[in-house]
Amino acid sequence: MSTLLQIVATPHQNGRSQTRHLADSFLDAWLTVHPSGVVETLDLSALELPPLDEPMVSVLFDQPSTAAPEQLALRRRALDRLVAQFISADAYLFVTPMWNFGLPHTLKHYFDLVIRPGWTFNIGAEGPVGLLEGRTAYAVVTRGFDYGPDSPHPEFNHLEPHLRTLLGFMGIHDLSVVAAEGMMLPGAAERMTEAQRAATAMGLGLIAA
Ligand SMILES: Cc1cc2nc3c(=O)[nH]c(=O)nc-3n(C[C@H](O)[C@H](O)[C@H](O)COP(=O)(O)O)c2cc1C
Repeated sequence: MSTLLQIVATPHQNGRSQTRHLADSFLDAWLTVHPSGVVETLDLSALELPPLDEPMVSVLFDQPSTAAPEQLALRRRALDRLVAQFISADAYLFVTPMWNFGLPHTLKHYFDLVIRPGWTFNIGAEGPVGLLEGRTAYAVVTRGFDYGPDSPHPEFNHLEPHLRTLLGFMGIHDLSVVAAEGMMLPGAAERMTEAQRAATAMGLGLIAA
């Protein structure tokens, strides 16, 4: 049985969110290929991620802290839960719009928590080593404008390169992405339909990175 952790980084809800729309096409297809698969959803704007304050950073890097033991224990419990959930998944679906040329802050906040020494990477003699080899990641991305490979300014797109680096750092090198460009431009509906077809194909395993 395969567990897919869906990590949603738009505050827009179903029916109003372009990115969730795209995720639905992917998930319908993925579930036909994995009939006994389990989809867990982490809606980043619906939950309050623990802050990266001094006690949390001390817990994250296993460093001494002047914080009260109860506060450290609280942070540790919250962090352990999040990271354990991340590690226990076999596959990931990132559901993310572009925000100011990159990841929404909630998704960056999430990565700042789950990229944790001893859990998702180790610091070896030759530098950091990712511990999550063998897992598969997918992303569905939407943008108001067009920063795709054939657009005038593909270099403004810091979203997919950043996502690929963050996952690769943890050893997750298998990332496939479907992006819907120009959701705030004329012709958005046609581009969404095309992207939905691509998301279905990705869910069926017909297209890869
Ligand atoms: C705070 C914010 C920043 C945004 N920044 C960008 C951007 O840099 N480039 C872009 O093409 N679209 C940008 N957009 C537009 C969204 O990426 C686009 O509307 C997306 O389809 C929204 O997805 P959703 O409906 O799932 O929330 C931004 C939207 C918001 C709310």
